[in-house]
Amino acid sequence: FDVAQYQHDLIHWFKQEQRILPWRANQDPYKVWVSEIMLQQTRVDTVIPYFENFMSQFPTLEDLAYADEERVLKAWEGLGYYSRARNLQTAVREVVENYEGRVPHNEKELSSLKGVGPYTKGAILSIAYGIPSPAVDGNVMRVLSRILFIENDIAKPATRKLFENIIREIISQEDPSSFNQGLMELGALVCTPKSPSCMLCPVQEHCRAFHAGKEQLLPVKSSK
Ligand code: ADE
Repeated sequence: FDVAQYQHDLIHWFKQEQRILPWRANQDPYKVWVSEIMLQQTRVDTVIPYFENFMSQFPTLEDLAYADEERVLKAWEGLGYYSRARNLQTAVREVVENYEGRVPHNEKELSSLKGVGPYTKGAILSIAYGIPSPAVDGNVMRVLSRILFIENDIAKPATRKLFENIIREIISQEDPSSFNQGLMELGALVCTPKSPSCMLCPVQEHCRAFHAGKEQLLPVKSSK
């Protein structure tokens, strides 16, 4: 497995083919954070208008921190999983109180914030700050399980840890943002759960599942 070639092919493809999404317009850590929280249980197409409305109502982290909870929940209406919105507001208030309103840029401080799990932490570090850190969600596990032919059960928490460790080894040090977002984008556009478009895949030559003709059999996921 040629890591450097793989990084290059993935990042090159991402730069050419990425969708224009409102949270990709800049690297404001606050905006990256809000978008990643919204995207965790909700599809991109659904999130776009909510994200834009949210940013017009709460353009900065301070605006969100000082807003009435009721207004925040109202802006979240329809996205579901309201605890995400409550936790996000609690967390930005912690950032105002403890970090002078600046989103922390290390793993330990980020992890201490309400609602910021390993995925969100890695997404903020890599996308907003350019710090190599894994951001593993279901899409990323699907893509990597195929490329590396990993048959571990993605329903098990230990498997997410395994993928985090793999990404620490293979993530681009020069452009961790495009690397992580490239994995996400590949999962959304090409390496889809059913009938992946392997013929269009920029990293087909690196994909062990494709070479074995077994891409449809991965990832392995037990129904618990
Ligand atoms: N899903 C989760 N995070 C995403 C991102 N930054 N871009 C596109 N889809 C995503």
